[in-house]
Amino acid sequence: MHIGIPAETRANETRVGATPETVKKYVSQGHRVTVQSGAGAAASFSDEAYQAVGAELADAEMAFGADLVLKVQSPTVSELPLMKRGAVLVGMLDPFNEENAQKLAEAGVTAFALEAAPRTTRAQSLDVLSSQANIAGYKAVLLASNLYPRFMPMLMTPAGTVKAARVLILGAGVAGLQAIATAKRLGAVIEASDVRPAVKEQIESLGAKFLDVPYETQEERDAAVGMGGYARPMPPSWLTRQSALVHERAKQADIVISTALIPGRDAPTLLPVETVHAMKPGSVVIDLAAGRGPVADPATGRRGGNCPLTEADKIVIRHGVTIVGYSNLASMVPADASALYARNLLDFLKLIVTKEGELHLDKADEIVAATLLTRDSEVACEVER
Ligand code: NAI
Repeated sequence: MHIGIPAETRANETRVGATPETVKKYVSQGHRVTVQSGAGAAASFSDEAYQAVGAELADAEMAFGADLVLKVQSPTVSELPLMKRGAVLVGMLDPFNEENAQKLAEAGVTAFALEAAPRTTRAQSLDVLSSQANIAGYKAVLLASNLYPRFMPMLMTPAGTVKAARVLILGAGVAGLQAIATAKRLGAVIEASDVRPAVKEQIESLGAKFLDVPYETQEERDAAVGMGGYARPMPPSWLTRQSALVHERAKQADIVISTALIPGRDAPTLLPVETVHAMKPGSVVIDLAAGRGPVADPATGRRGGNCPLTEADKIVIRHGVTIVGYSNLASMVPADASALYARNLLDFLKLIVTKEGELHLDKADEIVAATLLTRDSEVACEVER
């Protein structure tokens, strides 16, 4: 099969869909691989490194013109026409974005959106949300520690004692747990909140304190268990109690890292303006839900994150608090983010490409069925929008 690796062209995207390591495997499996010249440059993979493992270098037209195109993000409107009808596209294609899915369908490509893979043990090795969120959680802490005007660890020096930073993590999924682990390594004192009861033990095993908001009704308990491992929107009664506790803890915190998401919905508001107002001057918020929260400014349509003051892809200072809204933190660690992502793709292709190099679409396979976004000019309706 002819596999194409185009360069990513969207803003702030530094990753690439294949690395020399995975290209070497594709070539050894008998595939022809075309890499767009410069595709790996921002992730520190040179053209020569791809060539050395058997890739051909070419322009965007050739890379998009392959039978199977491996991307990080969805092609842009000007790139999509470069793909052949009937070709296969695999990437993080934003499955909840109906308009984008429609464009892919109209282009006649068979598209797989890897974010839609089930969170099962079998799907773990191709779980792009996990591989990338893990990096985002790590980078969030490093960004916070750079912007925070104090030390992270407790220090006893001849000039006096420095207190450890207090870090509050909101949402303890993959990113949140990695943020806890990273902040712990830097010596911070950490508290974390999540709606799902299952995370209490995970939070505590990493050395953080779980902020418990006990469930008071069966409705609250059912919502908290979630669906397919994901959170569901919690009833307002629980959110009100959580909000009061988060407000109190945020007032004491030096750094807040918020990662709370609900697939296919607006990210919940966990740090309202009043809470930011009550935070200490010099404290730092890293909002990984930037741009995915409710509309915060109806005049411009700007979406916030877990905090309505967050501005996507910007750092702003509001009420003395530095709020970071970078929406693609994984791209700030591009070499490892690409290496892990490219391995996710390698594992996914085992499900849809036979040893003979033919496309094999087994819709009885739950991972294939869940990730299939478009086929035969139609949007496959497996994703609940
Ligand atoms: P996510 O990125 O969708 O959300 C991040 C976190 O925010 C989640 O822990 C969620 O419960 C939390 N959250 C949502 N609303 C909240 C609120 N109001 N307050 C506080 N926290 C809130 O989640 P992610 O990281 O993608 O993980 C989703 C699930 O999948 C987790 O249960 C994770 O353990 C599981 N998982 C399972 C895997 C497997 O078995 N193969 C692999 C990776 C993840």
